[in-house]
Amino acid sequence: MSRLVVISNRLPLGDNPSGGLVVALDDALRSSGGLWIGFSGETVAQPSDTLTFHDGAPFQRASFDLADADHDAYYLGFSNSVLWPLCHGRADLTDIVPDHANGYRRVNARIARLMVEHLRPDDRIWVHDYQLFPLAAELRALGVRNPIGHFLHIPFPGPADCAAMPNPHELFEWLSQYDLLGFQAQRDLSNFTESARQLAEIEHLDGNRIRLCGRMLRRDVFPIGIDTASFIAEARNAQEEDRMRTLTGAQMMIGVDRLDYSKGIPQRFRAFQLLLENHPELHERIAFLQIAPPTREAVEAYRDIREETEHLAGRINGQFATVNWTPIRFIHRPIPRHVLAGLYRQARIGLVTPLADGMNLVAKEYVAAQDVSDPGVLILSRFAGAAETMGEALIVNPHDPWEMSEAMARAMCMTANERRQRHSILLRGVVEQDVSWWSAGYLDALAMTQ
Ligand code: ADP
Ligand code: G6P
Repeated sequence: MSRLVVISNRLPLGDNPSGGLVVALDDALRSSGGLWIGFSGETVAQPSDTLTFHDGAPFQRASFDLADADHDAYYLGFSNSVLWPLCHGRADLTDIVPDHANGYRRVNARIARLMVEHLRPDDRIWVHDYQLFPLAAELRALGVRNPIGHFLHIPFPGPADCAAMPNPHELFEWLSQYDLLGFQAQRDLSNFTESARQLAEIEHLDGNRIRLCGRMLRRDVFPIGIDTASFIAEARNAQEEDRMRTLTGAQMMIGVDRLDYSKGIPQRFRAFQLLLENHPELHERIAFLQIAPPTREAVEAYRDIREETEHLAGRINGQFATVNWTPIRFIHRPIPRHVLAGLYRQARIGLVTPLADGMNLVAKEYVAAQDVSDPGVLILSRFAGAAETMGEALIVNPHDPWEMSEAMARAMCMTANERRQRHSILLRGVVEQDVSWWSAGYLDALAMTQ
């Protein structure tokens, strides 16, 4: 079997990765081996012109540094102040700066140059996410003929948001240099097809083959999963459960998200406030734990969301707390995975209500962590990619605080029988469509492109 070379912007070199991409890739590479290339997380005055290798079982890692100006332009600028907001339906939050688009292209070209000398002729190359859209084009320009696939972890924008990019046609030219484009959900495949039809040249051949900007490639949907078996084991072993139960004495509702404006955290806090206003019988019976580690704080929109969230939590606690009960606890830092698994298991409600999300792995982790004899209820936004395959959750519109608060009330009084029925169907999906199923499906499809 030829070597798998994975490349993503984020390369976890420490413990406790948070973010769906690193969690999934770490799980995938553990089973297949290979090489994972990514950003070291360090900005330096003079970045090295070679990759730094970090050997270790069961797969090899290689990292690159970035100059401060490149980090600002490529990561904070074009990736996270143009592409991220557009892919999540927030054109109003974009900050378009021509220099940032240049920096984005420049960094992708540099990564291609750093990679190329380490590539073998039979390597399969798997590129991840929006930070690296131009990478295949840059590798092709250096003569790389290997199969190159792209997987987009976040939503693909529809025509209106694509058109808000500085040079929309360029996006499709970049994508045309891959052999396989992978998306999380049917929604993304449809958006891609419609956007390409309006803003570039796309022709449908047979099956999943298309001609995009004159080049033949394939595209398909590959919903990402988690390492379900190990997550189930972590949750079973978690010792945190009993400790937490004695601490709170109320049923727990849990939310776990990077503190990102796409996650709908303020909307969920408002829904909780409404629940407490309309259901006084739930006072002291429900406690909401929101775990939200900081992310991309150098981008203004992320500083704003932190202020808004802390302010709202304070206001709700001020309005409803008693000497024995704090309605919302807000933890603003990463948590070890085994502790997270135990917290999910203990929570009667898992609240996953993003305004837009590629898949959302927390929804799957929550289901995997439950005790099958007394499982909790997943409340899931219709705008998470996960909603396409997790219809047994209570599906909600995250913009509608009334609907969300009624779903919370319903989950609180749902019978054990109904909870078990819903959970067993959800769990079957999470077990069958785990991270190995996802990566094997993607890599089989990549092999078919040759
Ligand atoms: P995203 O990729 O947008 O961050 P996902 O829900 O797909 O969203 O993935 C988030 C991943 O990060 C999950 O595996 C989740 O367990 C992990 N995570 C989120 N918050 C924390 C936290 N506070 N501590 C540790 N892991 C976290
Ligand atoms: C999402 C994106 C990833 C990203 C992660 C964390 O999962 O799809 O590409 O790595 O968020 O964001 P960060 O900017 O910290 O890498």
